[in-house]
Parts: sequence; C-alpha cells; structure tokens
Amino acid sequence: MKIHRSLLVALSLVALCIYLFVSAPPALTETAEQPAGSIPIERVLETVAAENDIVRKLYTQEIVGKGKLAGLQFDEQWQKPEVQAGPLPALFLREAARSLQKKSVPLGLFLGSDFPISSANRFDRTQNEIFQRLRGDRKPQHFYAADTKLHTAMFPDVAGVEGCVTCHNEHPESPKTDWKLDDVMGATTWTYPKATVTPTEYLQIVAAVRESFADAYAAYLQEVKTFAAAPEVGGRWPAEGFYLPSGEVFMAEFAKLASSGTVDRLLIGSAPAARTASE
Ligand code: HEC
Repeated sequence: MKIHRSLLVALSLVALCIYLFVSAPPALTETAEQPAGSIPIERVLETVAAENDIVRKLYTQEIVGKGKLAGLQFDEQWQKPEVQAGPLPALFLREAARSLQKKSVPLGLFLGSDFPISSANRFDRTQNEIFQRLRGDRKPQHFYAADTKLHTAMFPDVAGVEGCVTCHNEHPESPKTDWKLDDVMGATTWTYPKATVTPTEYLQIVAAVRESFADAYAAYLQEVKTFAAAPEVGGRWPAEGFYLPSGEVFMAEFAKLASSGTVDRLLIGSAPAARTASE
C-alpha cells in the first residue's frame, strides 16, 4: 500500500512535469528572458533543499533520536571498524554529498560554516560574504558566484536544539565555543553550473538527490552489519525498539513525506497556465 502510494506520487510528478513544462503554454512572464519550458535553477535548488530538510529531519528524529533511546549509537568516528555507531546528521549529509559527486548531474552540496569543526566545511570568500547576509536576514540566498562560475543557493542551518550547541562548543576542533540556541551555525549550500534546466534535467536532479540519500542510508546499514550486537533491519523503526528500517522502508517513508511538497513546488509559477488550460 505504502509503495503503491509513493509510486503513484512519483508517476504523477512525472506526468505533471511533462504537462507543465512540455505541453502547457509557457507562462507569459517566463517567455521574455528564458527559452520556453525552462525551469529556473532557483526553483530546482529550493526543491532539493526542501527534500534535504525532510531527509535530515527524518534521520535526526526517527533514526538518531529514537535510536539512541533504543540503544543505538551515533558518532563522528562512525566509519572506524572499532566504533559501533552510525553517522551524526551532519555526516549523513556529507555522505549524501559524496555520493552525489559521483552521479552524472553536476549538482554540488555541502554544509558550510564560517566557524566549522571540519576545515573542509569552511566557506570560500564569496560564499562567506553572502553567508553573512544570510545570518542577518536568515533567508535563503541565491547568487551567481563569478569565481566558481556556479549558481549557488544557501539555506540557513539553525541551532534548533541544545545538542547542536553543546556538541559544537565542546568539540576540540571547533574554532568557536560560544554558539547559542537559535544561532545560524552554517548553511546548506547547493551549486549548479546553469541558470535554467530542462524538465528532463529537473527530474534527473531530483532522482540523483534521492539516490544519494539512499546511498548514505545504505552506507550506514553496511556499517551496522559489522556490529557485535546489530539491530534487526526490516520493516520496523527504532521507535519500536532495537530495529532499523531497511533502505526501501526508509526511502518509502521519505518519499511519502517529500513528494507532495515537491509536486507543489513544481506548480509554483505554473498554476495560472495550468488553470487556463483546464478551463
Ligand atoms: C554529537 C555532535 C554534534 C551534534 C549534536 C551536531 N553536530 Fe554539527 N557537526 C558535528 C561534527 C563533528 C561536524 C563536522 C563533520 C565533518 O567532518 O564534516 C559537524 C558539522 C556541522 C556543520 C558544518 C560546519 C562544521 O562545523 O564543520 C554545521 C553547519 C553543523 N554541524 C550544524 C549543526 C546543527 C545545526 C546541529 C543541530 C541540529 C548540529 N550540527 C548537531 C558534530 C555535531
């Protein structure tokens, strides 16, 4: 039942794309500057950012949060064979970003900061200037970085729970030790080389992002196999005890939470054209 539903949502997403961007007349406002049927990269990056928020929340709450209560552990050194733990949320994202790098779509992802624990997460100069603006108004920032020639979007990463603050402040590698609750600690940063994409590219991008989430979760399950006391992997979640959902179950739940928002985001700006066509 669950699978049927997400399949239906996925199919309607494809159908919508074809309808909105191929058959439907282009919205008047978009014809002036862009080739017909093209999708602005801002909308694409907003979509993948929303999908990333959902997977991070699902992983943080249902796997890490409930998992800890059920006896699972999560650690920075999760990949070391002697450490029987899973990735922290930031490292789950890093794993997804690593997998995304290997895909054919030229989409970049990283969680950056001006005071990072890991120096690999430090913003470059242009990114840092824009990040300071983001810290001021706490709004997503879209810009073209001339130095990297990449269209870039930054989304605030806020210290929403005390755990963010204490772990970062106490971390020996942290260059800043006075983070406070509700601080903007960094920004999820997405990059893409083109200003617009075709509907096909749009679908390839969303698909690649979802695959990279699945890959990150699979990397965790792979590690779990080596635990002396490994939880049962299948249909149940840590909320029920010492269990972990399989990759399929995890991704089906993710799709259920993410797909309707992704469809809605596709409709933004295209709704008037859709209405006219159906009248
Ligand atoms: C148990 C420790 C821990 C917790 C809890 C934690 N983090 Fe981190 N965070 C880390 C570590 C370690 C890294 C560096 C990971 C790496 O090597 O890329 C990191 C990386 C980051 C980065 C990238 C910049 C940097 O510092 O390298 C941001 C931004 C960030 N975390 C924000 C948060 C937020 C927001 C929360 C709460 C929702 C949070 N973290 C919770 C340990 C933690």
